[in-house]
Amino acid sequence: MSFGLSIHAEKISQQFATGLMPIRDLSFICAPGEFIALLGPSGCGKSTLLRMIAGLRKPSSGTLAVGQEQGASEKRVSYVFQEAYLLPWRKVLENVTLPLELLGASRVEREFKARTVLERVGLIDFESYYPSELSGGMKMRVSLARSLVTEPQLLLLDEPFAALDEVTRLKLDQELRDLWLEAKMTVVFVTHSISEAAFLADRIVMLSKKTSGIAQELTNPLPRERSFATRADSRFTELTQQLFSQFQELEA
Ligand SMILES: Nc1ncnc2c1ncn2[C@@H]1O[C@H](COP(=O)(O)OP(=O)(O)OP(=O)(O)O)[C@@H](O)[C@H]1O
Ligand SMILES: [Mg+2]
Repeated sequence: MSFGLSIHAEKISQQFATGLMPIRDLSFICAPGEFIALLGPSGCGKSTLLRMIAGLRKPSSGTLAVGQEQGASEKRVSYVFQEAYLLPWRKVLENVTLPLELLGASRVEREFKARTVLERVGLIDFESYYPSELSGGMKMRVSLARSLVTEPQLLLLDEPFAALDEVTRLKLDQELRDLWLEAKMTVVFVTHSISEAAFLADRIVMLSKKTSGIAQELTNPLPRERSFATRADSRFTELTQQLFSQFQELEA
């Protein structure tokens, strides 16, 4: 059995009290362990869809099943926001141990697991720092570490690196892809950056504001291992151009 959770969405819709329906009769399947990017212009419903997948909002209609193969057993889902949302009065280590504290893990287990993920995101030397003493990129790494400490089977990220400078963003994209190759969890990554989606994902699901559904689904032809050289690969260029022309049609 694969570690990652599957997602089965069948004709799901989300209608708000205002009457707006940014997601309408949308269907898609995500296989266990897949890395998917949800791409689309601002306001097309990416966050709305991600929140439904996370179980934070129920679809107004349709069926949505996460990890149905795993039955009723424990399903570990983590959610990463655009802002790091760290607790300013807690040191880095204590921010990362928080989800385990909520699960009732022992102090020894909490700190061992937190240090393992902090090592993984390159912040082991900063465990005693307060969030105010970190850069934006470091805060986001702490946020990522906190989301990984519970060893999620499904990791949902909503434009997590959008507020960072470009070089930091490229580095974190690389780190996230490498982490995923190791951990084999399912990842759904929301972005409005075409190149970020093309670099990160195995499959890109483009949402349309016009139809409130999926405009296009593309399988990424790039090899599983990605690096800085990937961005110079002709397949990367072709993919981004294809996505760009689709994007322009959506905006037209
Ligand atoms: N709770 C809500 N009540 C009413 N309308 C909402 C609510 N949440 C979102 N919307 C509307 O639904 C639409 C989709 O919003 P959503 O946040 O999902 O878009 P998005 O694709 O994530 O955009 P962005 O890239 O700017 O984050 C928008 O028009 C938004 O105003
Ligand atoms: Mg959003």
